[in-house]
Amino acid sequence: MIPRSFIQQLVGLCEIEDVVSSYVTIRRAGRNPKGLCPFHSDKTPSFVLYPDNQSFYCCGCGAGGDVISFIMRAENLDYVEAVRFLAKRVGLEVPDEGEDSSGQLKARILEINRETARFFYQCLKSPAGKPGMEYLRDKRGLSMKTITSYGLGYAPDSWDSLLRHLHGKGFRDEEMAAACVVAKGRNGRYYDQFRNRVMFPIIDLRGNVIAFGGRVLDDSKPKYLNSPDTPVFKKSRNLFSLNFAKNAADGRLILAEGYMDVIAIHAAGFPNVVATLGTSLTEEQARLMSKYAKEILIAYDSDGAGQTATHRAINLLSDAGLNTKVIRMEGAKDPDEYLKKFGPTRFRLLLDSASNVIEHELEGLKAQIQLDTAEGRIDYLKRAIHILADIKNPLEREVFAGIVAKEAGVMPEAVLSQASALMKKRFSARERQEWREIEQGKANLRDRINPEKAQNLKEAMAEEGILAYLIQHPDQIQPTGERLEPADFVTGFGKRVLESVFQLARDGDEVNITALGTLLTPQETGGLARILARYAGQRMTKEMLDDYIDILRAHKDKLQPGEIREIEPDAIEEYRRRLRQKK
Ligand code: UTP
Ligand code: MN
Repeated sequence: MIPRSFIQQLVGLCEIEDVVSSYVTIRRAGRNPKGLCPFHSDKTPSFVLYPDNQSFYCCGCGAGGDVISFIMRAENLDYVEAVRFLAKRVGLEVPDEGEDSSGQLKARILEINRETARFFYQCLKSPAGKPGMEYLRDKRGLSMKTITSYGLGYAPDSWDSLLRHLHGKGFRDEEMAAACVVAKGRNGRYYDQFRNRVMFPIIDLRGNVIAFGGRVLDDSKPKYLNSPDTPVFKKSRNLFSLNFAKNAADGRLILAEGYMDVIAIHAAGFPNVVATLGTSLTEEQARLMSKYAKEILIAYDSDGAGQTATHRAINLLSDAGLNTKVIRMEGAKDPDEYLKKFGPTRFRLLLDSASNVIEHELEGLKAQIQLDTAEGRIDYLKRAIHILADIKNPLEREVFAGIVAKEAGVMPEAVLSQASALMKKRFSARERQEWREIEQGKANLRDRINPEKAQNLKEAMAEEGILAYLIQHPDQIQPTGERLEPADFVTGFGKRVLESVFQLARDGDEVNITALGTLLTPQETGGLARILARYAGQRMTKEMLDDYIDILRAHKDKLQPGEIREIEPDAIEEYRRRLRQKK
């Protein structure tokens, strides 16, 4: 673990406004500077900095935290990586003596993964790997060059050959299980996770083997087996083949659906290709791509599932600010098959003629609707107007309105004015909705970080008040600790934050969002940022604290009927006395 004192020193040198302004154009208006949130597609400046406590909070998407949380999100890094990133920025050396046990385990897992990849690769080239080699080379047509550069391998049809190999290299069962290359059976014995599969190592940007995908050689199920998340691997944060693609991107990445598509596209001369790892695209992956490219060409399967996934990906990618285009493959189910059938030259034409997203959606709509009847044309128009209303650029909207008008046989002006009307309506509907939520305090009810808040609104608000008060008045932490303990809080989130506040105070550390961030999860730190944002600029008084504590007391005294039934007779007397006192 990095010492907390170092983190405080570092954050002291990284003024939040200074760091954030390399990413966001900040407008100084009043006490708290604002800007367009870099973490969602923001139209009004919802991203606010609070210099007083060095935090940020976006009331649009709920992102929040300190400068470390900001870098974690903006640069897609984990906590320690973000600390290193900031340290580099200000020229500090991160003390790494006393690397914690989780750091050691991560290092062991990476060694195991590397050794495992080597083992699978050796197997593939050995006589025992014949089934795998026949599959990859003969059935899928991969060259030795491709097999080698991707480090593909073969997991033999055995329950313990990898296990024995890794034992021989001095690794322990528990470490292998943490890497998820072996699993523990019900009888307590460990066995190889991947058997009789061709293996695809997943390599991160630093060249570490972080996970594996394995494909069966026939039609059995599951077709692909993927490593689950491990201490060194988050599938939602990584992309297959990004290690190759990032150097070849040149502003443009191809996004395919599967391992074999990526490999085939790369082998055909387009190394700027990536795929997700057995899951649908995530926001984090879209952000990751936006670091290496401005434009994404989606080359998903041409089947229904592929098209649904395309639609989803379009939204995520444009939210990440990426210009997105869609490849339309005809005569093949996926890029791998397309390349086999038609070759790289045709594939390049396909890339060059990739349609823009609007074109793609309008084409998709046309394919679903009969345009030769009046009803069909009306239906088409209605739905096309919804697509047009998504286009932000007015010129572009006009061009597509013209195309839609032609298809439906109506005047372009009519289409355009319908689309504009819908845009206005949507805008005000969104504004109305936001107001309604603010009025009803609903915005606070939907709380992902503190799901218990909705059932205990009053108490949860009191807890938030107490936390904000203590962070504003650290000298009151100790006396408050004598009146209150974490168990007096109702919500799990509140308990965890209060416990952390007390722990820092006990250790004699400063209590601020950065220090709390070393004890809380990034999500919890974000939740804390929201609380701090709410009370920012407000001087909280001792009376407020007392009121909040009373609210929690009252809640505790309110025993539930079920509990009364279980109370011992003399305790009932005690309970009555307490109630009398309150009156
Ligand atoms: P596909 O079924 O389209 O596989 O799934 P593919 O890549 O075309 O594979 P081949 O050509 O049949 O060998 C697309 C992706 O979905 C994930 C994998 O990442 C795969 O590459 N997937 C699919 C799984 O994770 N598990 C499965 O059982 C199937
Ligand atoms: Mn496929």
